[in-house]
Amino acid sequence: MTMPLPLSARGCPVLHGAVFAAQPNAVYDQLRAQGPAGWAEIAPNVHALVVTQHRAAITLLNDTRTYSKDSRLWADLANGKAPQDSPVLGMMAFRPSVLYTDGDEHARLRQAMDDCIARIDPHLLREITRRSALTLIARVIGEGRADLMSDFADVVPMLVFAELLGCPAEMTSRMVRACQDLISAGPEAAQGAADFAGLLFELIQLRRARPGQDLTSWMINHAAKLSDEEALNQLFCAVGAGIIPVAACTAWTLHLLLRDDDYAGHLAAGTLTVRRAMEQALWQRSPMANFSVHYARHDTHLHGVYIPARVPVLISHAAANTDPALPKNLGYDNRSHLAWSAGPHRCPAISQATTIVQTSVETVLDQLWDMELTSPDPEPLLRHGPFHQCPQTLPVKFRPKSSDRLPVNALAGGSS
Ligand code: HEM
Repeated sequence: MTMPLPLSARGCPVLHGAVFAAQPNAVYDQLRAQGPAGWAEIAPNVHALVVTQHRAAITLLNDTRTYSKDSRLWADLANGKAPQDSPVLGMMAFRPSVLYTDGDEHARLRQAMDDCIARIDPHLLREITRRSALTLIARVIGEGRADLMSDFADVVPMLVFAELLGCPAEMTSRMVRACQDLISAGPEAAQGAADFAGLLFELIQLRRARPGQDLTSWMINHAAKLSDEEALNQLFCAVGAGIIPVAACTAWTLHLLLRDDDYAGHLAAGTLTVRRAMEQALWQRSPMANFSVHYARHDTHLHGVYIPARVPVLISHAAANTDPALPKNLGYDNRSHLAWSAGPHRCPAISQATTIVQTSVETVLDQLWDMELTSPDPEPLLRHGPFHQCPQTLPVKFRPKSSDRLPVNALAGGSS
């Protein structure tokens, strides 16, 4: 059933809330009617320009002279017109990290981020992911039913990150709880962010005293000589930028494999099929739906649209990927989608994210036999925020088995 699309008090499409979550594509069409970029309300009383055209998105993402990522430029936030407790500030307020910096400062922080991410051993990452996935599968395998979001896709990346960060075992459950609050987009999100930052601070102190082979130790000892505040915010950014998109991408890949006739009967075909479904999901269901926030340094035009200085301009990776002007037969193997963004802030962890998603999907398909989605609705409801395209739930049933038959039963995680 389609619902009437509301407009904000300023007459703009509403890119958050229940109606957007139920019919995002209709809202993207409303935005497209305004041209390559259009105004939207992204939270109560917060308006932004949103780029929906693929070509315009590429232009903006590569034009670092005109556009900055530094949200201290955001005029309405600086002058108090934007609500100071808006739920979008968790993702948009300035932090000293790669995500909010430009030019030389960005290059310095990005080098540290790239070098630390590059030190993650791909085999170990696969093993950690598989172990984390099996730990979660063990909790539901006897039940015959599960919610693949809350029981699986949401939690695998949290367990993986806890281990990559070098979290001692006793900190892992605190970290998972803080992450769950952080990604809730509800009233507990601000507390979750504060708890998570507190845990990272503890971890930094611990790894200063006792360095290990983990992201935290590598970040604080990097040649770029980051301050504790910078190191903390870099790690916060990696986890904040990583957890929900990985969960969403895992969910959409599984959704395609379980629902789409093109994949039916190929579930046992393994890695190639999973990879193909993941690439299709990245095109059609960009996990980071609307983000890559920029601010024009001066009034300008983008492909004919007037862009005033110092207002947030978001890239709709979701709408750009489904831009009707794109050639019809591009094919999903073509990598020109914008799910990872483009330009200097393009995701630095593409191969690591791919490994986590692919391994999680392969492991769950290997272990939960005859799995079927149980919701009669072919389109899962999305979470309500503007930034991520992520199902709220993904209920499934499968043939129950005893958890003794799992290859590994130990709880994941934890270094000393
Ligand atoms: C399927 C999973 C993922 C997707 C779809 C994704 C997508 C993106 C996108 C669209 C951006 C651009 C954001 C912006 O410019 O504002 C980005 C940036 C970033 N991502 Fe990912 N990401 C994923 C997983 C990860 C993981 C696992 C990590 C960490 C290990 C990560 C770390 C980062 C970081 C640090 C940035 C900021 C880069 C910069 O500003 O220079 N991402 N990602």
